[in-house]
Amino acid sequence: MAGGTLSPRRGTMDKVEQILSEFRLNKEDLKEVMKRMQLEMGRGLRLETHAEASVKMLPTYVCSTPEGSEVGDFLALDLGGTNFRVMLVKVAADEERSWKVETKTQMYSIPEDAMTGTAEMLFDYIAECMSDFLDKHHIKHKKLPLGFTFSFPVRHEDIDKGILLNWTKGFKASGAEGNNVVGLLRDAIKRRGDFEMDVVAMVNDTVATMISCYYEDRSCEVGMIVGTGCNACYMEEMKTVELVEGEEGRMCVNTEWGAFGKNGELEEFRLEYDKVVDETSINPGHQLYEKLISGKYMGELVRLVLMKLVNEDLLFNGEASELLKTRGSFETRYVSQVESDIGDRKQIYNILSSLCVLPSELDCDIVRLVCESVSTRSAHMCGAGLAGVLNLMRERRSQEALNITVGVDGSVYKLHPCFRERFHKIVRDLTPHCEITFIQSEEGSGRGAALISAVAYGSSGLLRTVKDMNLQTGNSPLEDVI
Ligand code: GLC
Repeated sequence: MAGGTLSPRRGTMDKVEQILSEFRLNKEDLKEVMKRMQLEMGRGLRLETHAEASVKMLPTYVCSTPEGSEVGDFLALDLGGTNFRVMLVKVAADEERSWKVETKTQMYSIPEDAMTGTAEMLFDYIAECMSDFLDKHHIKHKKLPLGFTFSFPVRHEDIDKGILLNWTKGFKASGAEGNNVVGLLRDAIKRRGDFEMDVVAMVNDTVATMISCYYEDRSCEVGMIVGTGCNACYMEEMKTVELVEGEEGRMCVNTEWGAFGKNGELEEFRLEYDKVVDETSINPGHQLYEKLISGKYMGELVRLVLMKLVNEDLLFNGEASELLKTRGSFETRYVSQVESDIGDRKQIYNILSSLCVLPSELDCDIVRLVCESVSTRSAHMCGAGLAGVLNLMRERRSQEALNITVGVDGSVYKLHPCFRERFHKIVRDLTPHCEITFIQSEEGSGRGAALISAVAYGSSGLLRTVKDMNLQTGNSPLEDVI
């Protein structure tokens, strides 16, 4: 009977789909996530609730300012993902007075022991890379102004001063938390003694992304990263940023939304796999929202679901290889590769073979379903967060419709074949009164850091403290910044 050969496949698929259905979030769920995110954002902004809020809403001291900026060479550093980058950025004005930026970049991988040793070791390594870069480009004799993109939660006191609240994304260097990050960098440069630098600005990668996109599109007032980590920043009304004095204009706020969930806000959405990912991570109990979304965790989530299906005898004949049983073996880039394979299953087959399992066609189809479930939930969860930010901005500005551009960067957003579309669709579904443009930032971390340094350097003092700032109400935020 024809049905006889089909039914085992159908039977298995039904059971698999049943297990994967837990990853599906309907619109009501997402609205709930969005509402809770907005609540925490409000609590993060208010002085009296800030301490216990899970979303910290950190002021960045990046504001609108009527002053122009400096032109010339800037060094930019980018620390926060798997690699550390040093860039030489030339900021220049062309005839139309917009800024032209040219860059030279060098990437350095961060050794595990520098990530998890002491802060001194980490910053010595950074200074060593800088020294190497300056040698290569024959600019060691110059004391360049430097912009530092440091992609961790920092409580700023100024644009060039701020303490690291806690490490995220697998970093753990001891003796850094609670300390001024720019001070740690300056000390390491001093210890070497073979070059000098003028550190003028430190920014989060979301902020650098927003600034670099603002250069192309003056409506860009939101920056977002979906890469190793996940986070967003946006221009908030000064009067609601209670942690900083001043009422006029807007300041960019680094939401640090990756920490959402710390107060139990995500409990009914976290699955058994999420709990394992969290418990086996370097920072259990922290960054729970980020752990549902970002590239640091996505591959491992898929691996845990595959193991569940093996244990239920629904995959690979109920047997996993030693490699597949090993934590971290299913890399996040495989998720993108698996979902790109919509034809002959060749890529899926190759990936699974490299993990020492020999899959049937049905196995390959199941693995693709698992990847789709995990990455779709990631896009939807992240979309609920961004929709929360955008709806909040619209409310604040009392606008009928919000016309806004979001600058985005990060490997998951850029490299996954379907993340973007799923994400855009959900954000638009949840923000009926917003007209949203998404733009991808190119080299945003470096360019953004250099551009904001050019401002900080050129208008000495103006960006640095709020009381010095001569903000003009009604000005487009960041106007004339770049
Ligand atoms: C983590 C960091 C945050 C950063 C994000 C993206 O969430 O805490 O500062 O922006 O990763 O890199």
